[in-house]
Amino acid sequence: MRVLEIDHPLVAHKLTVLRDKTTHSSVFRQLADELVTLLAYEATRNVRVSPAEIETPVTAMTGTKLANPKPMVVPILRAGLGMLHGLTTLLPTAEVGFLGMVRNEETLEVTTYANRLPEDLTGRQCFVLDPMLATGHTLIASVNYLHERGARDITCVTLLSAPEGLKTLEAAIDSSVDLTVVTAAIDEKLNEKGYIVPGLGDAGDRLFGVV
Ligand code: URA
Repeated sequence: MRVLEIDHPLVAHKLTVLRDKTTHSSVFRQLADELVTLLAYEATRNVRVSPAEIETPVTAMTGTKLANPKPMVVPILRAGLGMLHGLTTLLPTAEVGFLGMVRNEETLEVTTYANRLPEDLTGRQCFVLDPMLATGHTLIASVNYLHERGARDITCVTLLSAPEGLKTLEAAIDSSVDLTVVTAAIDEKLNEKGYIVPGLGDAGDRLFGVV
């Protein structure tokens, strides 16, 4: 598993405003969107391309275009939806599949409550969006789900990651999966409630309000 913690002043700035508890939901949403676009630039560094013959106004040349099949972007409901626009800004031709995962706040166990994905993901590059890699259980369940459908090239994009979650994820994922985690920051630890410290609180609630 490769872990890329993005070291960029704009990422650091936007993340600091996101962490601030006085940041209102509307600003939080806007900044999360901008931050994901910056992360997407790094996350798509190895996106598959193929040669393309074109003609410029001057001459014929061989350029580069995204290969087929197009990448699959998979936001994990609910909080991952807040990252979808930021990622598809750079990958507008990607297809989007959905996975609904819910975490039991007491046992921290994860169950799937919804999915809308192709049955066969063989040969598809997948970009999984989940803002908080905390215990790692949601991403383990999501990556395993995609792996069962044939995906072998999976990049998880997160705003924050906990060291404990990264370790658990790496240990749990089948070695046949080429797994990359792209994150704006690796924080200090998890607290006893499974929250990332210093973190930014509950990402879903901060994006969409408490339900
Ligand atoms: N999920 C969140 O939204 N925040 C955390 O700190 C951990 C998990």
